[in-house]
Amino acid sequence: MTQDELKQAVGQAAVDLILPSLQDSSIIGVGTGSTANCFIDALARHKGFFDGAVASSEATAQRLKQHGIPVYDLNSVAELDFYVDGADEANAHLELIKGGGAALTREKIVAAVARTFICIADQSKLVDTLGAFPLPVEVIPMARSHVARQIVKLGGDPVYRDGCITDNGNVILDVHNMLIHDPRRLEEQLNAIVGVVCNGLFAARPADILLLGTADGVKQLK
Ligand code: 5RP
Repeated sequence: MTQDELKQAVGQAAVDLILPSLQDSSIIGVGTGSTANCFIDALARHKGFFDGAVASSEATAQRLKQHGIPVYDLNSVAELDFYVDGADEANAHLELIKGGGAALTREKIVAAVARTFICIADQSKLVDTLGAFPLPVEVIPMARSHVARQIVKLGGDPVYRDGCITDNGNVILDVHNMLIHDPRRLEEQLNAIVGVVCNGLFAARPADILLLGTADGVKQLK
């Protein structure tokens, strides 16, 4: 199977997993990226079975609306049963690196509200140790150099993502050359740097379920 077919398979598997729990009033949190897009396309075939969605990015909101799925502001939603999103890397504890698509801050916010976070990914995303994928950090533009210097002190190699402005009007530093043995600690350390809005480690709130697309089918890790 190609990587695209694996992404479609996990997108469909996520729909199959949540469908029995959906009610007319259900609102679903939806992530960002090519795998999340596969989920959106599969979800759209069941439009009558839920109320709408909260989007983790402008791009996702647009795709949901194109399918005729109502998009709600998170502030108008009391609870979300599910958040479904892709990842750049996942480990066996379901701790993640996210933000390759620069949507990490809104993704982390929507994930925080959801009762169940279902991560969908092809098998190439499963790693022993997080960090081969450069860790995205969203930064207030005027703090870029300050934050970069602090990241160097933590042992990382920050690289400014040229031309990228997030949906929140901020910039991204991608941290290279850091094998992350204690994701929770590094997530806290990065959050403590003044000027950091959010970082792409999802360890304090990892996924609850990982649906992994493999050549032998979709595997579920919990
Ligand atoms: C966007 C993300 C995405 O979930 C992550 O980059 C994975 O994307 P894709 O499914 O296209 O590989 O965190 O900010």
